[in-house]
Amino acid sequence: MLESKFIYFNGDFVSWNDAKIHILSHVIQYGSGVFEGIRAYETKLGTAIFRAYDHYKRLKESMKIYRMETKETVEDYISITKELLLRNELKSAYIRPVVYRGLGSISPNPLHAPVETAIAAFEMPNLFNEKASSGINACVSSYRRFAPDTTLALAKATGNYLNSELAMIEAEENGYDEAIMLDVFGYVAEGPGENIFLVKDGVIYTPPLGSSILKGITRDSIIKIAEYLKLTVKEQNLPREMLYVADEIFFCGTAAEVTPIVSVDRIPVSDGKVGKVTKLISEKFREIVIDGVDPFNWLEFVEAKAY
Ligand SMILES: Cc1ncc(COP(=O)(O)O)c(C=O)c1O
Repeated sequence: MLESKFIYFNGDFVSWNDAKIHILSHVIQYGSGVFEGIRAYETKLGTAIFRAYDHYKRLKESMKIYRMETKETVEDYISITKELLLRNELKSAYIRPVVYRGLGSISPNPLHAPVETAIAAFEMPNLFNEKASSGINACVSSYRRFAPDTTLALAKATGNYLNSELAMIEAEENGYDEAIMLDVFGYVAEGPGENIFLVKDGVIYTPPLGSSILKGITRDSIIKIAEYLKLTVKEQNLPREMLYVADEIFFCGTAAEVTPIVSVDRIPVSDGKVGKVTKLISEKFREIVIDGVDPFNWLEFVEAKAY
């Protein structure tokens, strides 16, 4: 449900309805914000934020790219988020921090508009609901990801998502669950809000950072889980047709978690059923975030861990 009790808003915890900004805020006019999507899971050992440090480190990197500074450190953000979850009595949540340019200038130059921060947390199921286990039908979008050195893919910037929006509108209007976007050179890039993995002849492939993708935290987790399971992972350019001949394909991301793709452009992926590597990785991921079995030290417990 897109609601909870409190939002962290420029230094205070204010009620949900009071976290408001001016209509002429720079972020509304020009998309000058950077943000994160983080999940807290109700594990068997208590509520834990998944890779909190890495998410807030990425937020700081996005800020650096856009010359934004806040007084809060990564550690401050983590403790604010814990307090936010406790104040909202949330056992599991989707956490949305956003650092944005407020009211101060009508010029596109952002440097003269103030930098402000909000963090919200609320309950949210998997992006694809029950299809997250049975698999989704995807299409290759006619919209490419933005070219390198235009808007910058490694920054998780609000304005970047206008590109994602076009791909999502097109996919939904054409009856698909989600789009797969190619980069400007025609190689597979990612979904509008997810990274992508393919399995072919026992090897797991994912596009490299140079393909205008977000450096996903879940992507990194999948690579580490696969290596832990002694599976081979290759980061390399992937031509479009790999999507049609792959044995398995899945999306991953904070909102999508691990979501199998069972067809692309109405061509079934293998036999159109969820593949065994996808299942294996997905089960390992659930083992970490639900059972609390965490060999990677990725869980940041909100309160003392229950043993
Ligand atoms: C464009 C894009 N790619 C990939 C991802 C997956 O990143 P993460 O695993 O860090 O959520 C997201 C979601 O944040 C995204 O918006």
